[in-house]
Amino acid sequence: MTPAEIAELRQKQYNATLATLKRVHEDLMIVRVRPDFPVPKHKPGQYGTLGLGHWEPRHPDCQPEIDKPGEEKKLIRRAYSLGCSVLDEQGQLFDLEKQDWVEFYIVLVRESAKGPPALTPRLFVLNEGDRIFLGEKITGHFTLDPVQPGDTVLFLSTGTGEAPHNYMLWELLRRGHTGRILAACCVRYQRDLAYLALHDDLMRRHSNYTYLALTTREAQNAGHKVYIQDLLTSGQLEERLDQTLDPAKTHVYLCGNPNMIGVPTTDRATGQTIYPKTLGVIEILEKRQFRMDQPSVKMKGNIHFEEYW
Ligand SMILES: Cc1cc2nc3c(=O)[nH]c(=O)nc-3n(C[C@H](O)[C@H](O)[C@H](O)COP(=O)(O)OP(=O)(O)OC[C@H]3O[C@@H](n4cnc5c(N)ncnc54)[C@H](O)[C@@H]3O)c2cc1C
Ligand SMILES: NC(=O)c1ccc[n+]([C@@H]2O[C@H](COP(=O)([O-])OP(=O)(O)OC[C@H]3O[C@@H](n4cnc5c(N)ncnc54)[C@H](OP(=O)(O)O)[C@@H]3O)[C@@H](O)[C@H]2O)c1
Repeated sequence: MTPAEIAELRQKQYNATLATLKRVHEDLMIVRVRPDFPVPKHKPGQYGTLGLGHWEPRHPDCQPEIDKPGEEKKLIRRAYSLGCSVLDEQGQLFDLEKQDWVEFYIVLVRESAKGPPALTPRLFVLNEGDRIFLGEKITGHFTLDPVQPGDTVLFLSTGTGEAPHNYMLWELLRRGHTGRILAACCVRYQRDLAYLALHDDLMRRHSNYTYLALTTREAQNAGHKVYIQDLLTSGQLEERLDQTLDPAKTHVYLCGNPNMIGVPTTDRATGQTIYPKTLGVIEILEKRQFRMDQPSVKMKGNIHFEEYW
């Protein structure tokens, strides 16, 4: 494609600008995207869509793509949860209604068994000021709608799955939530905890808030890997919460790696619940009288989840 054709496609397809780009490390970034239109109405926890054209360059150290004729003028779109840095530069809770951007927390997928990852290798060569596509709709059922002011709220995530939880945390702090809030995030390496300092600060300011960070691939984790599931089965999570989990007044939010979440299927013939082979959080909690929230079949519950793939 010629530079003029590319310029024309960008002009036609893109409707937003990368207002800021913070590279946490070479495979992780926090970006703020400013749409050409007003920020769409949304609730904390929901997701939007980012997109770039197939014609854009890719990060050189990623699984190469096989050219598919006819694709080169198409837009690649992916869902991204809206994130939140919670505090502004003055250390005050963000007045997000006054901001003309939305925040995303994105990891670079360099390769995938499913086939070459399409969007993140292109996102990771962008710079501040570059143009991008942002969907005009922000949507999703992963919200704080069912939470009452005194409820215990658990946010359990892996990797960038903490993004929507940070936004929901901002909302709870803004509302003056009186119940206990505990967020735990499991990542490979310490450097993958982009918001760690923020959480430490928030814990100092809010006595009802606890953040637990888990790493799995640091030297000290050799032979001693603690997953989110282990926090629950060992009783460590309740210890830190200083209370027994009561399904009547606790909401659990799960986001990130589907293996951590462990969504069961239903046997069509018997109606029996079949949990995945590897133990996920849903199985642990359902055995303790928690129930999955399933908006698609209008089943209300106190386990809310967002799978990233
Ligand atoms: C509702 C929703 C919200 C999402 N929010 C985020 C977000 O806030 N931040 C974010 O980084 N991603 C998020 N994702 C994933 C995102 O949509 C893309 O799939 C991801 O950025 C990879 O895109 P890709 O085109 O490069 O590769 P794809 O072809 O889309 O994915 C290839 C493979 O990469 C792995 N993968 C995808 N996303 C992740 C991830 N986040 N962490 C670890 N491994 C992953 C999976 O194995 C997947 O099969 C979200 C997905 C959904 C459905
Ligand atoms: N994080 C990095 O530094 C890095 C560097 C290069 C590329 N990438 C790429 O980025 C993508 C995302 O990586 P990510 O680290 O953000 O996400 P991830 O692979 O989902 O890992 C996040 C955390 O979830 C844990 N986990 C894995 N399986 C689990 C299970 N069954 N139950 C509970 N927890 C589980 C991981 O532990 P384990 O350690 O056991 O997997 C890790 O601590 C991948 O495609 C990866 O190739 C990441």
